[in-house]
Amino acid sequence: MKIKKRSWAEPFKIKVVEPLKMTSREDRLKAIKKGGYNTFLLKSDDVYIDLLTDSGTSAMSDYQWAGMMLGDEAYAGSKNYYNLEDNVKKYYGFKYLVPTHQGRGAEHIVSKILIKKGDYIPGNMYFTTTRLHQELAGGTFVDVIIDEAHDPDNLHPFKGNIDLNKLDKLVKEVGVKKIPYVSVAATVNMAGGQPISIQNVKELKVFCDKHRIKMWCDATRAVENAYFIKTREKGYANKTIAEILKEFCSYFEGIWVSAKKDCLVNIGGLLATRNWKVFEEARNLVVVYEGLHTYGGLAGRDMEAMARGIEEMVELDHIKARIGQVEYIGNLLIKAKVPIVKPIGGHAIFLNAKKFLSHIPQTQFPAQTLAAEIYIDSGVRTMERGIVSAGRNKVTGDHNYPKLELVRLTFPRRVYTQAHMDVTFESIVEVFEKRKSIKGMKMIYEPKYLRFFQARFEKLK
Ligand code: F0G
Repeated sequence: MKIKKRSWAEPFKIKVVEPLKMTSREDRLKAIKKGGYNTFLLKSDDVYIDLLTDSGTSAMSDYQWAGMMLGDEAYAGSKNYYNLEDNVKKYYGFKYLVPTHQGRGAEHIVSKILIKKGDYIPGNMYFTTTRLHQELAGGTFVDVIIDEAHDPDNLHPFKGNIDLNKLDKLVKEVGVKKIPYVSVAATVNMAGGQPISIQNVKELKVFCDKHRIKMWCDATRAVENAYFIKTREKGYANKTIAEILKEFCSYFEGIWVSAKKDCLVNIGGLLATRNWKVFEEARNLVVVYEGLHTYGGLAGRDMEAMARGIEEMVELDHIKARIGQVEYIGNLLIKAKVPIVKPIGGHAIFLNAKKFLSHIPQTQFPAQTLAAEIYIDSGVRTMERGIVSAGRNKVTGDHNYPKLELVRLTFPRRVYTQAHMDVTFESIVEVFEKRKSIKGMKMIYEPKYLRFFQARFEKLK
């Protein structure tokens, strides 16, 4: 036999295993009903393959676990803080670091420092917690992502790019004084894990320098973004992921990071900047909301795991296999004609629920319904990213009606194998086959903030 193409395999072997629990269809029907048809309200014990999120769900390496034993649990000046500071400087390129308990802790502090009441914060599509903190600080988020990002079938290689004409229009409408910074996300979560190009960031930098607007970046998945730059952008094929990450970050005054993603840890976040004044204020605020500035709500061992995770996240074998796994299942789904957001994203596959369940109107929550149906079919847990996640308009009180009505299958790093991908794929195809018989839902409980986490639903008859 002639081998046409050599495969890649997971670049690790398994040293510790965690058994998975199989459940019956009856068990799952009971569990999802009890959880108000919201996958966030399921007990993880009732889940078979958990694709709810890639946040804090990754597997740590033996090197990271060894580092956990070296936790220096001093209240102040833990040596693990200094190791983390060194690696943030070395890999992200920022001099000043403030650790936080997770990403939203850093978003809270950045928003409080930079935003005044009545300000506008342009960004490449909203993220739930990011926008909420910007709004709680008195700002209004304005989406300036390119139109292609709102079209699930458009094949633009950098759907996370910013439309400078939209930004210019906002500047003309409200004036630069009301725009404290541009909020740039690296691989845009809500657009389907789509990257932003270095070219676009450079053009944005020229625009922002001219208008004296700051640039801040949500670098939560900047390593995944760097991989897409390496594989898709001219002139970057021969650069290392570490070099691309460092160049990417060099255009920003500062970043905030949920370390629970790229950085391969179960908990942690950070804020890093080259601006001493912002750092000084952040260091002050972190004491109020998170903990002393040398631990920010984290144990010493957590900071050590993060410092070591940062070293591992930029290894090419790792990131290639991580994104390769997402592409593997994504390509199977495309072949089976299941509607997904294209191009395939970095951390997740997004099913296009508007097309998948085209007979269910958006007010009957097609994506929420689809996530529940997939769980009932196989115990695979996914999540809604559509009208429920988009929340309500803060002025009119009506739902926001996002163009994208998606179900996210999010892949933890280094946790599942290719066989898990096959099982997941087969379940989705089965649900797709019987899609016409699926009915929508109504919301019977709605919390005030980030409603998707705790809202409850009932099946329509
Ligand atoms: N920014 C982005 C792009 C995120 O994806 C998240 C979290 C945060 C900020 C907030 O960080 O959770 O550590 O407080 N995203 C998770 C997800 C929840 O499932 O996509 P956090």
